[in-house]
This record gives sequence, C-alpha cells and structure tokens, in this order.
Amino acid sequence: MTSSTAIVVRHITHDDIPEWTRTWSTGYLRPHAEETVNFIRDTIIGGRTIGAFEMDRCVGTYRSSPQAITVPGGTVLPACTISKVAVAGTHRRRGLLSRMLRMDMREAVERGEPVAILDAAEYPIYGRFGFGPATSMAWFEIDVHRAGLDRTHTDDTQGVELVTADEYRKLAPGAYERFRVTQSGALRRDSAWWRQATGQKVSPGSPWTEPFYAVHKDSGTGEVDGLLCFTAEETWEAMVPQSPLLIKDLVALSPVAERALLRYAVKVDWVSTVHLPYRAPDTLAPLWLSDPRAARITALSDYLWLRVLDVPRALSARTYGTEGSLVLRIQDAGGPAEGTWLLQGGPDGASCTRTSRTADISMDVRDLGSLYLGDEAPTRLSALGRVEEERTGAMGLADAMFRTARRPWSPRAAQYHQARPS
Ligand SMILES: CC(C)(COP(=O)(O)OP(=O)(O)OC[C@H]1O[C@@H](n2cnc3c(N)ncnc32)[C@H](O)[C@@H]1OP(=O)(O)O)[C@@H](O)C(=O)NCCC(=O)NCCS
Repeated sequence: MTSSTAIVVRHITHDDIPEWTRTWSTGYLRPHAEETVNFIRDTIIGGRTIGAFEMDRCVGTYRSSPQAITVPGGTVLPACTISKVAVAGTHRRRGLLSRMLRMDMREAVERGEPVAILDAAEYPIYGRFGFGPATSMAWFEIDVHRAGLDRTHTDDTQGVELVTADEYRKLAPGAYERFRVTQSGALRRDSAWWRQATGQKVSPGSPWTEPFYAVHKDSGTGEVDGLLCFTAEETWEAMVPQSPLLIKDLVALSPVAERALLRYAVKVDWVSTVHLPYRAPDTLAPLWLSDPRAARITALSDYLWLRVLDVPRALSARTYGTEGSLVLRIQDAGGPAEGTWLLQGGPDGASCTRTSRTADISMDVRDLGSLYLGDEAPTRLSALGRVEEERTGAMGLADAMFRTARRPWSPRAAQYHQARPS
C-alpha cells in the first residue's frame, strides 16, 4: 500500500478534469457519463478545485466556491462553500479528505472568507473540522383531503399566476434576490442555478421532469413577491385521482404570498399528497391549512453546516436579540478561531475583538457554528456538556443574545429530483 504522504494534494488543472470527474462520480455512486465531464468543467473555478493524486491517478476530489449567506439582521457575508467531496473507496480513512479540507480552509482564510459552509452527506464527517449544524430542515407531507381547504373558494389564491419556464427564468431571480436578504441562512443563487432549476441545463444522468411554474404578484404594486415551482405525477386508482405533488421551490416575500402559493399547490385538482421538503422546522406552512395536522413532518434533520473562520468579522456581522457584552473562549486547536473574544452586541449591531479578559462562556468552534445563525441555544448545548458557563448568569445572557425570533432557513441551494429526502 502506498502511504498517503506519497499522494499529492493540489489544485487541479484543466487536463485533470476528466479523471477528477470520474473519481467524483464513483464516490457519489453515479455511473460515469462522458457528458458529465463538460457539465463539471463549467462549474470548476480555477484555483479553488482540489484533487488528491497518486501518480497520475486521481483518488480524491474537493470543490470550493464563493457563496454568500444572510445572517441575522440582514447582513450578507461572503462564505466559502464546499461540495463534490469524494475519496476513492480504495484510499479512504488515510487522511485525504483531511488534507484537502485543511488546504482549502487555509486558503479561505487568505481569501478573507469569514465562514465556510456545506451540506453534509453524513453527520459524523465534518464536526472534527470545526463545522457545526447551523440550519435545520423539515420535510412535510400534506394530506390534501385532511387539509380542510375548500376548492370552490378561490379568494385565498388571488395573485397567483401560472407562467412558462422562460417567464419564470426572467421573473424569479429578481424576486429571490429581494427575498434572500430578508432570510437568515439563505444563500445566493447564480444564473447557472436558475438554468438548472428550469431545465435549460440538466445534470447528465439525473432524471428531469419538466416542472410547473407560478408566481405571486402583490395586489398593490403588481411586483412579483412569491415563487412556486412544482412537479406532479398523474396517478389514478380506479376512478379516484391520487396524484403526488412535489414542491421544488416555494419562496415568498410576504405571508400573503406564502399563503396563496401554498394553498394553490394544495388545491391543485387530482392531487392527494403534497410533499414540501427543505423548510425551516418553524415554517408557517402547516398553519396556512385549515387543519395543520394534515401536514406531517416525515423527516427532520440538520441541513447547512457552518464553520467560523474569522470570529470578529462573523460575530460583528450579525445583530443580537438583546444588548449585552460577553467574553467567549473558543477552542479551535491550531485553527483561526482559537482565542478569547469580547462580543458587544444588540439589536442594532455588534463589535467583536480579541481580549485578555476572563471568559464568560467557553465552547468549541463547532458549537459556535451551531449558535451563529440562531438555530441552537447555548443552554441546550450546555446540557450536552459542550458550552460551559464560566461566570454566573452568562448563559442566560448568551441565550437572549444569540436567539432569533424565527429559525434560520436555507432554501435548498443545490438541485434535487427525488420525491423523498436524499
Ligand atoms: C467522506 C469521505 C470523503 C471521507 O474521506 P477520507 O479520506 O476517508 O477521510 P479522512 O481519512 O480524512 O478522515 C478523517 C477522519 O474522519 C473520519 N471519517 C471520514 N469519513 C467518515 C464517515 N463517513 N463517517 C464517520 N467518520 C468519518 C475518519 O474515520 C477519520 O477519523 P480519525 O481522524 O479519527 O481517524 C469518503 O469516505 C467518501 O468519499 N465518502 C463517499 C462520498 C461522501 O460521502 N462525500 C462527502 C460529501 S459531503
């Protein structure tokens, strides 16, 4: 066996892309297809894509790209986002992911990216690298016949317009841009995202079903303030329609738009079940139904993972639930977040600087990642023995500062086709 030190971890070149793509496809259990190489080539950003090479054979893949995440209070923070992580089955557990990720985290610090984010294939992989689960997702299944919505009434879906894929491509990006700066945890979607969402660019080997598209327009201004994209499958049992409908995207700039679009989907004729995946667990969606128990949560899970790389920049970018001053001791062995930090923050903004004062509370950097967007509470992590109170009363203050009225939400950034959680 070759030792992993004989394996070179480096940025890939143009010529490496076919071999790199094959290794990634195998790691993700996707049969290799020649067209995938060109598809991937378009998504590779020079100087940010890494491979592990044994001689000229690629045995590990890793892609890093620039993203932007909205944090509590509405500031949009640059983020390093990680994807396409795979190590050949023959070379696993020899430290190759660790080498690729540490290289990228060093470079992310040099690039000035204050946080890194990813959606983790498996829970146990990324905590050791300082990532913590930072947003959650709930998957709802709505029993249309229990929902108690009267299909003969159309007042509650006023403002909904069905549009073509072309129209959606024109209208949706602008509305999403206005939405994402209002939603803590939301990520940027670039033009490639919208091309994929509307079938202009389909990932080779992935099944594509042409969706239906709708927008909601504000009754006063006529401006698009909500988006809905769904697929449905015509299904009959004898003379009874039993069609499932999958909501691929539903974002709204107002409760009125959210209610109208959700109710539109639930009232589509012939539909018996609506699948509503990737929502924040505290979404209002069930409460827009006459009987909220018609919406059952069928999966509840961590979703976006976050690692703080620049503590002062990240902590001073968000707002806090109450005015307060806290000294945080962050453990990040050899990492950029290690140290003791003075956070002074409130509803209007915050500052954060390195300090020599005695800590009020201490935690590992991964737990800071979980607290950062407000999805976790210091008291809950303290019950797990992960956040420690060093000064009496500090935990209560930390709870009040880090909490947010609504949980963060990351509307799915990657494309998906499954009718079930992947
Ligand atoms: C996940 C994957 C990339 C890990 O690569 P790797 O090179 O084996 O990882 P490393 O050797 O650097 O592992 C570092 C540590 O993480 C642990 N680890 C890695 N993958 C793990 C997993 N899936 N579950 C639990 N622990 C894992 C290792 O045991 C090791 O622990 P140690 O430091 O205590 O010895 C690889 O297993 C893989 O390609 N899996 C399939 C594709 C995938 O899931 N990709 C991730 C997409 S987000």
